[in-house]
Amino acid sequence: MTDLSANHHDSIRAVLWQGDHLRLLDQRRLPFEETYVDCASADDVAGAIRDLVVRGAPAIGIAAAWGVVLAARKDPDRLDDAWALLRAARPTAVNLMWALDRMRRVGTDVDALAREAQAIQDEDLAANRRMGELGAALLGDGAGVLTHCNTGSLATAGYGTALGVIRAGFAAGRIARVYAGETRPWLQGARLTVWELLRDGIPATLIADSAASHLMKTGAVQWVVVGADRIAANGDTANKIGTYQLAIAARHHGVKFMVVAPSSTVDMATAEGDDIDIELRSPDELLGYGGRRTVVEGAQAWNPVFDVTPASLIDAIVTERGVVERPDAARMADVFRRH
Ligand code: MRU
Repeated sequence: MTDLSANHHDSIRAVLWQGDHLRLLDQRRLPFEETYVDCASADDVAGAIRDLVVRGAPAIGIAAAWGVVLAARKDPDRLDDAWALLRAARPTAVNLMWALDRMRRVGTDVDALAREAQAIQDEDLAANRRMGELGAALLGDGAGVLTHCNTGSLATAGYGTALGVIRAGFAAGRIARVYAGETRPWLQGARLTVWELLRDGIPATLIADSAASHLMKTGAVQWVVVGADRIAANGDTANKIGTYQLAIAARHHGVKFMVVAPSSTVDMATAEGDDIDIELRSPDELLGYGGRRTVVEGAQAWNPVFDVTPASLIDAIVTERGVVERPDAARMADVFRRH
């Protein structure tokens, strides 16, 4: 008999504390090589975040927290250097800054810092499970869903945000079909999401990013379910480049649009999406693939790796604190007003 429990669909862990170093599943090499990178210093962790060994908003926050622990083990008096280095690793995902601020409040005691890093990791997993239940409850029966980028165990402490909803929805028998956009240019959808879902027994169909509107027009999907890197106080949501055009297409076709993210992704200090710093990465990510040039020499490329979906295009923001339907500043404040 098929085991449809949520646990059955959750076998992958990408961020592993080893007692004296941090082990990261190398996401640059998936799906064909399952290799790990060991980080012995905050410098190593910052490099791993910059180079996308570890990626996904919650996962980089967790990795950075362990980076602070590594720094404290070396020299608790120079934590400010590590803090600044890690904070600068990537600009858009607020979970990175949130985790570092939380670690900073702990002080310099190594054991206390390690307990806090573990708590950040454990709480993320628990939040994902809760969001999975809340998000799955919004799906009708027999839903087709389209997701973007990778928001699963690889991008979090485990289970995932949008992929957590897909895991929970599939386990509950509510999801009939899962489509994953390939997520150019780094192919998080093609390389990571499809691998992760198939590995955990959830059938998934890959589409080219440019096939999304056509897919929606066929009626095969009722929900687009995505994660977030930063949600502003009015509900505007930064996520992987391409999310915005999915939201526009979804609204046009009467497809519902769900954002799933833990409260650590909500940034009430940022009023609206235009205030979010959008990471620009190297044009080389577009001009070639896997070390091989695919575009004529001399060509230029513009490579913003996130975009902002306005709150008005979002039907529901699912967090572990609850669901904000038709988000706006007032509804966000009801759930996330700073205490
Ligand atoms: O550049 P990445 O791969 O770090 O971008 C990841 C995303 O955009 C995810 O959708 C987001 O971080 C949520 S992960 C739970």
